[in-house]
Amino acid sequence: MKRVITIDGPAGSGKSTVAGKLAKRLAFVHLNSGALYRVIACQADLQGVSLEDEEAVAKLAQQIEFTFVVADNGETRLLVDGRDIASEIATNEAGKKASLVAVLPKVRKILTEVQRRAAQHSSVVVEGRDAGTVVFPDADCKFYLDANVEVRAERRHRELAQAGEAEAEMSREQVLSELQARDHRDETRSISPQKPADDAIIVDTSKLNVEEVVDELIARID
Ligand code: DC
Repeated sequence: MKRVITIDGPAGSGKSTVAGKLAKRLAFVHLNSGALYRVIACQADLQGVSLEDEEAVAKLAQQIEFTFVVADNGETRLLVDGRDIASEIATNEAGKKASLVAVLPKVRKILTEVQRRAAQHSSVVVEGRDAGTVVFPDADCKFYLDANVEVRAERRHRELAQAGEAEAEMSREQVLSELQARDHRDETRSISPQKPADDAIIVDTSKLNVEEVVDELIARID
């Protein structure tokens, strides 16, 4: 039987790293739904489509083919029309734009279907904002990772610096204020706001490293 584990939580809570490692340990597919929103936002931008034009963004989203491929090392790669564009969507800018298209109900509907279809073929660890509340309300196990906003901003700042982008020039204060703005937009939107499912296990990752979080989740699943 196919299994579904959901991990929701705000930016910088450690979701992506933890979901990737957990999926690898369980030999499940890692479904990073934030990446799907980032892809739509980046493609819209590239094609000169306004991120507020719901019809046009939804039309574009409908035409993109997403494939999840588990590599020999157990890591999942997302292919967009056959191409791996992980590095193009990893920027702070892409995250900000993703948060804008994420308020469009038609886009959310399309990406919800993409996630549900992927879970028909494989057991999945899905990470996002509404995985446990909307996309997979009947998931086998639901987690919500959280951490205080300063810790999350510090992690984001470090990630950007490691990525070696121009964005690494952003000060900690800038990263913190952008994160707070993104939290606000994601938590207060009327459709599928970022929040824990009633039956989610909440894990505060502020004082834990990645391996400690993964071990905690495995223990809870067991
Ligand atoms: O997890 P992330 O930083 O890659 O997500 C980018 C943005 O996409 C985030 O600010 C909110 C949005 N998002 C969403 O609304 N629903 C999801 N399931 C995943 C991401």
